[in-house]
Amino acid sequence: MERFDTVILGAGAAGMMCAIQAGARGGRVLVVDHARAPGEKIRISGGGRCNFTNTGTSARNFLSGNPHFAKSALGRYTPRDFIALVEKHGIPYHEKTLGQLFCDDTAKDIIAMLLDEMARAACELRLRTTLAGVARSDDGFAITLAGAEAAEIRCRHFVVASGGKSIPKMGATGLGYQIAGQFGLAVTETRPALVPLTFGEDALAGFRELAGLAVGVRATCGKIAFEEALLFTHRGLSGPAILQISSYWREKQPVRIAFLPRQDVFAALRAARQESGRRSIANTLGDLLPKRLAAYLAETQGWSGSIGAASDKRLAAIAAAIQDWEVMPIGSEGYRTAEVTLGGVDTAGLNSKTMEARAVAGLYFIGEVVDVTGWLGGYNFQWAWSSGWAAGTAI
Ligand code: FDA
Repeated sequence: MERFDTVILGAGAAGMMCAIQAGARGGRVLVVDHARAPGEKIRISGGGRCNFTNTGTSARNFLSGNPHFAKSALGRYTPRDFIALVEKHGIPYHEKTLGQLFCDDTAKDIIAMLLDEMARAACELRLRTTLAGVARSDDGFAITLAGAEAAEIRCRHFVVASGGKSIPKMGATGLGYQIAGQFGLAVTETRPALVPLTFGEDALAGFRELAGLAVGVRATCGKIAFEEALLFTHRGLSGPAILQISSYWREKQPVRIAFLPRQDVFAALRAARQESGRRSIANTLGDLLPKRLAAYLAETQGWSGSIGAASDKRLAAIAAAIQDWEVMPIGSEGYRTAEVTLGGVDTAGLNSKTMEARAVAGLYFIGEVVDVTGWLGGYNFQWAWSSGWAAGTAI
């Protein structure tokens, strides 16, 4: 039987950060993952360049049953701290938009950085290995590992960093939620988030014509709105605006899309009428919107005739419709493509400073498995770093 101070389940973003901190404090740390390589989601993130943080991160960029829960960890290990680590390793990066930082070269730089820090902190990593069982023991936890490095282990601290359910093909499992349940912690409802939305056959017929088209919009669901790009696909709607709104969308709710969200469309249409009244409404709209989209809207909304013949009232109605196009999703593409899992281990059962379970000393939950879900734009990795750091430094 082997002894460790800390066993961490999951060599993802949160688990590796936690290991670095716990190891640096002198404890004997083991990280276990059933995947063939550590940090697989880091590797594929941000189109292979990893949007590793967002300089504007605050608790308001997250969904959680307790919107205050993430504040402590985010405040103590900030984007600035992670950027300092990236710079220490000489990894070139750039700001894309809205504070989103990406590697210049490859996301693998981030994985190499974390592995290097883990090696310096003398952390052990066992891959192709999973948890077969965990139980309380006199001085902590009795852990049974199965797979390539099957073993019986005793540890004082057990950290669950096994992520959410998104992309099962890459090794995502619900094991973290099961462990929470085993130790009496509540788990909130989980659902795919940051995910494309799907539509019924009627709407899809139109979307298919527009597939591949990207356009800047404001997408609104209930009280929340995101101004980003929308992408028409063969299966429905995607693009950052839709991924963002998907975290808030619930079945039977409409999503409202404003095309040309920052423009006075009525004024633009009146000016167009003045200039060339003989043009059709569809062609006129084609100057403001992508032509395929203008034609689609004109056809489905019945905007026929010339712009010159349209009254102010009609132009105002067209302008309003362009900025308030309602769509009714029927579902999402699910965990197969979702970037994250919404919901997770209920924060009410965790200490927000340490991520330790309130009722089970030595048991910690960090990263995506916790009911803290970030917007698109580097926030989810920042939560992984911050929560991993919080647990690692508390151990
Ligand atoms: P993560 O999922 O990274 O790690 C969990 C680890 O646990 C995995 O290595 C897994 O193999 C292991 N595991 C699971 N079950 C196990 C079991 N039963 N036994 C053993 N091991 C097990 N975020 C962001 O901020 N910027 C971005 O650019 C992107 N881009 C992006 C792209 C795509 C395609 C996806 C799917 C996701 C993103 N994300 C993102 C989200 C981000 O990847 C995610 O929030 C973090 O990886 C979460 O980190 P964790 O360490 O919590 O889980």
